[in-house]
Amino acid sequence: MRPRTVLVTGGAGFIGSHLVDRLLSLGHRVVVVDDLSTGRLHNLNKNATFYHSGVTYPGLKEIFEREQPDIVNHHAAQISVTQSVKDPIKDAEVNIQGTLRLIELARQNGVEKVIFPSSGGTVYGEPQYIPCDEKHPINPISPYALSKRVAEEYLQLYYHIYRLDYVTLRYGNVYGPRQDPHGEAGVIAIFTKAMLEGQRPVIYGTGEQERDFIYVDDVIDANILAMEEGHGEYNVGTSQGTSVNRVFETLKGIIKYKWGPVYGPARLGEIFKICLDSSSLGKQVEWTPHISLEEGLTRTVEYFRKAAQTPSHNEGVR
Ligand SMILES: NC(=O)c1ccc[n+]([C@@H]2O[C@H](COP(=O)([O-])OP(=O)(O)OC[C@H]3O[C@@H](n4cnc5c(N)ncnc54)[C@H](O)[C@@H]3O)[C@@H](O)[C@H]2O)c1
Repeated sequence: MRPRTVLVTGGAGFIGSHLVDRLLSLGHRVVVVDDLSTGRLHNLNKNATFYHSGVTYPGLKEIFEREQPDIVNHHAAQISVTQSVKDPIKDAEVNIQGTLRLIELARQNGVEKVIFPSSGGTVYGEPQYIPCDEKHPINPISPYALSKRVAEEYLQLYYHIYRLDYVTLRYGNVYGPRQDPHGEAGVIAIFTKAMLEGQRPVIYGTGEQERDFIYVDDVIDANILAMEEGHGEYNVGTSQGTSVNRVFETLKGIIKYKWGPVYGPARLGEIFKICLDSSSLGKQVEWTPHISLEEGLTRTVEYFRKAAQTPSHNEGVR
């Protein structure tokens, strides 16, 4: 692959920081824009050029003009569904307006391709069939899901009007090292940290709800392949649903945790079962997930164990 300048927004966050590491290891020049609202400086690779800036700030224009990126990979976002319900305007400012500013600047500065992570776990709503493929009806049931969908449509529109190339990757539930264990979505990070600290994780509802858990390295593979090939929307998942109870039991085995879970009331509006048919991405860019749930959970536990012993990491696992 020929070396490029890649602008990664959200490059100090969970997924973005893994992406930055991989891009640098492949010889690309990487420019990161992150406002550190949920990202952590210690996640950020020191070989990246870093701008402590928001995607809604006017200064983004100068960053594009100075750095002249070939590829834009836009991982910065307001990522909380609950927060999006509490403050839909803030969600739209970052996820819709911020994305639009970015793709408009990409167009003005002759960027080759924009890569955008959307949310396969939310844009389809309650699935009519599983696994959901990309033809499944879109039915956002939260401001977050809607803002991701609107951003997807802006990318489609910019391709239609200006031929600005893009790939939208609709992720399942991504997990792995560096995920914030205090968010609402990172059930694996939350359970891992709680179990390692001898606390009792809470399972909301019966625990039989299923998600498509995908290890972060597999997601990064998809992002790298998408730089060269592919166009349009693709699911990024394992095509398999895993129940929260199974996650709990598997982690329990790896950690040798003694207790059972505590069950709490089901969360209102939560989708019951979803998984993503990702065969289209597989065919288009020869992508397939390599990391099994057991392997991914083992690596995640190792990371959180080490992080607990390293003071500089503790700021990232508040
Ligand atoms: N984690 C998942 O399971 C998942 C699933 C689907 C989609 N996604 C998408 O992947 C992307 C990354 O998610 P993550 O889980 O790594 O979350 P994260 O919170 O770890 O990363 C987001 C990063 O964006 C930065 N950021 C937030 N608002 C910003 C702004 N206005 N300007 C500049 N930087 C800003 C944060 O500081 C953080 O570093 C998001 O777009 C998210 O919607 C994640």
